Order: sequence, then structure tokens, then C-alpha cells
Amino acid sequence: MADQKDLLGIAGMTAEEIAAILDTAASFQGDSPGSPRKSTALSGKTVINLFFEPSTRTRTSFELACKRLSADVINMSSSGSSVSKGETLVDTAQTLDAMSPDCIVIRHESAGAPHQIARHTRASVVNAGDGAHEHPTQALLDAFTIRKRKGRLDGLKIAIVGDIRHSRVARSNILSLTCCGSDVWLCGVPTLLPQDIVEITNSHRSRVHTTISLDEAIDEADVVMMLRVQFERMGESFFPSIHEYCRYFGLTQERMKGAKPDVIVMHPGPMNRGIEISAEVADGPHSVILDQVSAGVSVRMAVLYRLLGGA
Ligand code: NCD
Repeated sequence: MADQKDLLGIAGMTAEEIAAILDTAASFQGDSPGSPRKSTALSGKTVINLFFEPSTRTRTSFELACKRLSADVINMSSSGSSVSKGETLVDTAQTLDAMSPDCIVIRHESAGAPHQIARHTRASVVNAGDGAHEHPTQALLDAFTIRKRKGRLDGLKIAIVGDIRHSRVARSNILSLTCCGSDVWLCGVPTLLPQDIVEITNSHRSRVHTTISLDEAIDEADVVMMLRVQFERMGESFFPSIHEYCRYFGLTQERMKGAKPDVIVMHPGPMNRGIEISAEVADGPHSVILDQVSAGVSVRMAVLYRLLGGA
């Protein structure tokens, strides 16, 4: 990645490249996971955070990551920019490029928007989530959290449960975790499972399994990753009722009885408590959900540091 301009997706990355980013993140995290050490590595660099979709964790942690590395950071949202006046994405990219930022972090509702920005700017571009396509830094912080807890990424059984079809988090995680040697079990309503698993997983197809049974997914799993039902990405109804969804796919204390004693429970957030995950499980002893948030800062520091050639 050191010789790469952008981070647009996990697709195309190797296990070695992923491990190198996680190692850099670990060196930033030091003894204080939530508040990595301050460094002057990116002093004099400018990062623009361009968010066309709502975000709490991703946006805040990119901003914190910039500040921890002493970069200058500018936050823009679509409502406060000329995009709300009808400016195209390419014009926005060229306008920002004329001000010579070193990096543009972009979240957009359309798949491929970061790739388009990357073609029209000299700055490094980081994809902070594009439609239902990829969310590479989320997958990297998830891999960081798993590796920290389990000591490795290879040979694990990882269940990803919920609205996988609409989830960029799931796509990037399927790519990164299978690339690093884990077995990924996708579990959900058949209509919410992806139609293009072969395309997503390319050479690691044999490490991806699907099931509509939550008990089967949880059985012997080292990690259970729950996903939000992304109602905002559904133009139609994908299951009959929320009540029924919770009954079959909601992670509750009762369901957790079938899990390994040392299983960890993850969720990228935002959670819909009482739908895909009960409050008891989200706040319970197996949950590493807040560890994921803490990891977000050091992992994004590592990505920015490596792309922008930190000294
Ligand atoms: C996710 C996202 O926006 O893709 N959240 C995140 O970045 N932590 C998942 C979601 O919205 O459900």
C-alpha cells in the first residue's frame, strides 16, 4: 500500500498488505486503545472528509485519526456543499483538486463514487463506504479487533448475520477475512443473502458458506458479526415482518447458549437494539462492539499514514 495512491476497496489486496496495515495500527494504538499516541507524521498534509451520507463512527474516527497525526482536516457534507446546488461529482472532485489536498475521504450512496473521484484528483482517495459496494476501513478495523482478541485471522469460523445483500461492511469483510484464511458463514433470510458470492470472493469461494439457520451459523463460531437491516436501501419488502425476522435472526441471550464460551460478538453500528441484537447481548460479556469503535481511530491513522507517506 505504501506505493499506492488510493484505498478504494479490499478487492485486490493481499493478506500481507492487510497484515501490514494492522501492524501499523497496532503500533499507533500502544497501551491506550481509545486514544492512540499523538504524532507529527502528517504535519503539513491536508485531508478533506467528504460525507454524502450520515455517519457517526466513521466520520469522527477519520477526523480524530487526522488530528492524532497532526494533519489539517476539513469536514464537508453534501448539504453544506455545492452538491446541494446541483454540482456533479466530477466537478466537485476537480474543484477540490484545485486546492491541492493530500487526501480526500469520501462516503457516498452510489457504488463507484470514490473510484470516480480518484480518477479526477491527484489526491489520495479513501473509500469510507460507497453504496452497497465496499467499506474497506471498516473491514480493516474488524480484522484488527478479531486479530487482537483471537491472536490470528486464519482458521477461524466467522458468522456474518443479517442484511448481507445491502451491506458494504459484509462485502469488504467477506473479501478480507477469506483472504486472511478465515471461513465465513453468511446467514440471513434468503432474499437478503448476496446473489454474487462468486464475484465477491473470487479465488476464496471455498471459504464462504451460506445458511438460513442462525443456530448453524453460531455453532462453533469464533466470531458472530451482526448487521443492521438496511431499510433505507430496500425498495421493496424482503421479509414479511420485523417480528418474524427477530425470531429467526435476532441474536438474543437464549441463542447465545449455543455459542462457544469464548465467542466474540461484533456489530459495525449503528445498532437497531431489539431487532438484530438484544440489548443484553450488545452490552454483554462477549460484545467487542466498543473495541471496534476504538480500533477505528488507529486503523484509519494507519491507512492515512501509509497512503500519505508519513515520515
Ligand atoms: C455501516 C455503514 O455505514 O456502512 N456503519 C459504519 O460505517 N460503521 C453499517 C450500517 O450503516 O449499517
